[in-house]
Amino acid sequence: MQTLDAPLTILLIGSGGREHALAAAIARSPSCDRLLIAPGNPGTASLGTNVVLDVADHQAVIAFCRTMGVRLVVVGPEAPLVAGLVDDLETAGIAAFGPKRIPAQLEGSKAFTKELCTECGIPTAAYARFDEAQAARDHIRAQGAPIVVKADGLAAGKGVVVAESVDEALAAIDMMFSGGLGAAGEAVVIEEFMAGEEASFFAISDGTTAIPFGTAQDHKRVGDGDTGPNTGGMGAYSPAPVLTPALEAQVMERIVLPTVAGLKDRGTPYVGVLYAGLMITEAGPKLIEYNARFGDPECQVLMTRFAGDIVAIMVAACEGRIGAIEPVWSAEPALTVVMAGEGYPGTPKRGGVIKGIADAESLPGVTVFHAGTALKDGALVANGGRVLNVTATGRTVREARDRAYAGVDRIRWADGFCRRDIGWRAVAREG
Ligand code: AMP
Ligand code: GLY
Repeated sequence: MQTLDAPLTILLIGSGGREHALAAAIARSPSCDRLLIAPGNPGTASLGTNVVLDVADHQAVIAFCRTMGVRLVVVGPEAPLVAGLVDDLETAGIAAFGPKRIPAQLEGSKAFTKELCTECGIPTAAYARFDEAQAARDHIRAQGAPIVVKADGLAAGKGVVVAESVDEALAAIDMMFSGGLGAAGEAVVIEEFMAGEEASFFAISDGTTAIPFGTAQDHKRVGDGDTGPNTGGMGAYSPAPVLTPALEAQVMERIVLPTVAGLKDRGTPYVGVLYAGLMITEAGPKLIEYNARFGDPECQVLMTRFAGDIVAIMVAACEGRIGAIEPVWSAEPALTVVMAGEGYPGTPKRGGVIKGIADAESLPGVTVFHAGTALKDGALVANGGRVLNVTATGRTVREARDRAYAGVDRIRWADGFCRRDIGWRAVAREG
């Protein structure tokens, strides 16, 4: 591959709030000459050019890159990674920020990650994998509750049941093996329950080594007080105060660097963002799961705090130079509140007109990232589950939270709802 001399024409793949935040960071990078987003959303349209492209058709993506002179492809979501888009781009001589098909199995297959953890001595919950229901049921009865049942494949965040009772765990087995999650539930992983506080840790790997790239905490449940069904995430803040510098160093040493080394030793090096979902237990940080991409909405708070050149970091990862990079961050925390369509995480109401974004963004420190929005007859309308990310910075998490909710209150959208307690753990810590 040729060296990536800036400024570059860059193609960003994805359409969520994560991609709007990434597009904002890429567009302000002096290393970006031109930004194309496939398919993007009405928010990314003001930062670059949204393009229509079937990203499942890798040859079409390659042909597009050649025609447009795209030198770097940034892949936002996991599906194209797991489908091997980065492998095919590399074969065509086009650089991509994101892992190839096999290392992306860190997210694509829970069993893959668990086996790597065992191989490399990475702290995580004890587990067993089953591809047959009766053996899974016997195991649950022998272990007792609480216990965690997970579909092995990608299930869009819906494949995990933290069962308080044996009956609940057995019901999850029945649901998964009867096809309730499609192919994702053909095999299950049953895990020991870990008690503690959760946090997200991000690192950027160049295949040989990795650097820390910020921390965050998200709110997965749909309802206030962390109640109701799991979602893709209803809000987040960064940094995560539970991850002290000493704990961050432990995460790098015991979890992230052994993972990067293990995948390199297997001949399948990991290039891209490594997102570790952690449980901070009494015995130290343990890995819950890996994702092969930035989190959504965690990316929105990370990119809001990030004060450096994101393209320079991505290029350094692609070129094996990440060890020399020191990311620059704003000292102020950031917090984002997700506004979702009524019905989410089930079927959301679509089509409702949204107003007031400019009004919200006129408040100090407030930015609104689009996710499931669309333009219809010149009006901005809701077109998905998670629709807007009202994001703010502040001197404290409390101030960032108050500003974000002041922004939410300026948005006029009849079918929208949000949690009202984003950041509660961090605000409680501030006293
Ligand atoms: P995952 O998709 O693996 O991140 O799981 C979704 C959520 O389930 C996590 O964010 C945790 O809240 C919870 N969870 C997963 N695994 C465990 C575990 N072994 N112990 C306790 N909670 C867990
Ligand atoms: N917010 C959780 C995720 O992106 O997986």
